[in-house]
Amino acid sequence: MDTARPVPASTRAELGELARQRIGDRLFVSVSNREPFVHSRGPDGTIQVRAAVGGLTLALNSAMEAVGGVWVAHGSGDADRESSDAQGRVRVPPGRPAYDLQRVWLTEDENDGYYNGFANQALWPLCHNAYVKPIFREAHWRAYREVNARFAGAVERVIGGRDAIVFIQDYHFALLPSLLRRRCPNAAFLHFWHIPWPLPDILRICPWHAEILDGILGNDVLGFHTPHYAARFRDAASALPGWRCVGACGLEREGRAVRAGAFPISIDFDGISAAAASAECDAAVERLRDRYGLAGKFVVLGLDRIDYTKGVLERLAAVDSLLASHPDLRGKLVFLNAGAPSRTAIPAYRELHSVMDLATARLNARHGTAVSAPAVSIKEHLHFSEVLALYRLADVCVVSSLEDGMNLVAKEFLAARNDERGRLLLSEFTGAAWELPGAECFNPFDTDHLADRLYALRESGDAGQAETMRSLRGHVRAHNIYAWIGSILDAVPPRRRGR
Ligand code: F6P
Repeated sequence: MDTARPVPASTRAELGELARQRIGDRLFVSVSNREPFVHSRGPDGTIQVRAAVGGLTLALNSAMEAVGGVWVAHGSGDADRESSDAQGRVRVPPGRPAYDLQRVWLTEDENDGYYNGFANQALWPLCHNAYVKPIFREAHWRAYREVNARFAGAVERVIGGRDAIVFIQDYHFALLPSLLRRRCPNAAFLHFWHIPWPLPDILRICPWHAEILDGILGNDVLGFHTPHYAARFRDAASALPGWRCVGACGLEREGRAVRAGAFPISIDFDGISAAAASAECDAAVERLRDRYGLAGKFVVLGLDRIDYTKGVLERLAAVDSLLASHPDLRGKLVFLNAGAPSRTAIPAYRELHSVMDLATARLNARHGTAVSAPAVSIKEHLHFSEVLALYRLADVCVVSSLEDGMNLVAKEFLAARNDERGRLLLSEFTGAAWELPGAECFNPFDTDHLADRLYALRESGDAGQAETMRSLRGHVRAHNIYAWIGSILDAVPPRRRGR
């Protein structure tokens, strides 16, 4: 809970040992919207399985491999049903099975209302400072309630009356904890909220904010990336009838306690560092350097899902401003703007694609030369070895989120830089900026200032680079994904009997 505490585990083996102590013979069940492995039919008709894209699934999979148990998630692949047993279960990861994946089936309409609707057009913008106006529709809220109830049924069946620890992920399941608490008296509930928690005045915009708070308060332990998100949650919850704050991070009503504190998420540092040192990654570095003409150039990298919270337009504006004030950099700088398309069923995301394309074309028309365009848009789901190769090729990695719970790109970049080179420029509105001591932070809304910072970094060459990288990498290596899940398991309350 308290982030100053020593890490309770920092390797997979240590986490396995800690899990044996804390979980004992209880069943460990994690729940998320996105599943870690997706089965789909390839063009030749054969079934292929791939790991889902996204920080949450990658991080949680490392933890589940060490802890074991059952992961309940939406079965979204077009070959998921035929690749699971009659109950919707399959052992994963493929080739080295360590836990069960329990798929939950949703209709297109349900997914549209719950995921594209309430989760991503209401809660997502609400929790990210409402820079894009949240949309609240009764039908979306109804679908969200129904899907939360569907997952409650699925988790209850998985538990089957046993003693269990249920670990719920994210804003897709705000109602699940309270629903489950009534149905599963022998379970403890942990919930990690992977995105920011809104400021009080913004939370009140949501017509159903009291129901959401009430749902989340079904947990025993609730985790946020930073202490200030946790404090905002405690303030909002303690305004509900009967609830009051107790101690540093507790809430209480009629003798029932909820702990709401900071547990900053992380990555499998050693795993990523080793993958970045592999021959596969070396080959990707060569390939991408040639493909984008990076040799001898100053390479600025931005890499995210294409999402309006990530400050992708602000990054483009900063590079535009940099090249406008320093025309001598034309032909000497490449800005790689890499982003996987995401949530494209939602109009705000589709509009962002068009605006990005226009801004990129304008920038290249203004500052391009006959032989080179400064901004390169890479709009595809890259293989992880290519993501790591881009990190290795960057002189500067710019994380420009307007608001971001943590931002794991920042940590992955550090893990990939075994050469202790490169610079991380980090938006001050990320959990990573709060957590990483000594990181170079900036305000992404101030694009002219970002342009100046990029210029200064190019001028300063390698000065101080290795020292900063060594210190930042040391922090992430110690506070890795095993430490994250270990600190959450450390907070697991003792067994409850029909409370
Ligand atoms: O950052 C919040 C989050 O839900 C993560 O937990 C997840 O990895 C990412 O967004 C991707 O979201 P989606 O599953 O909607 O693609």
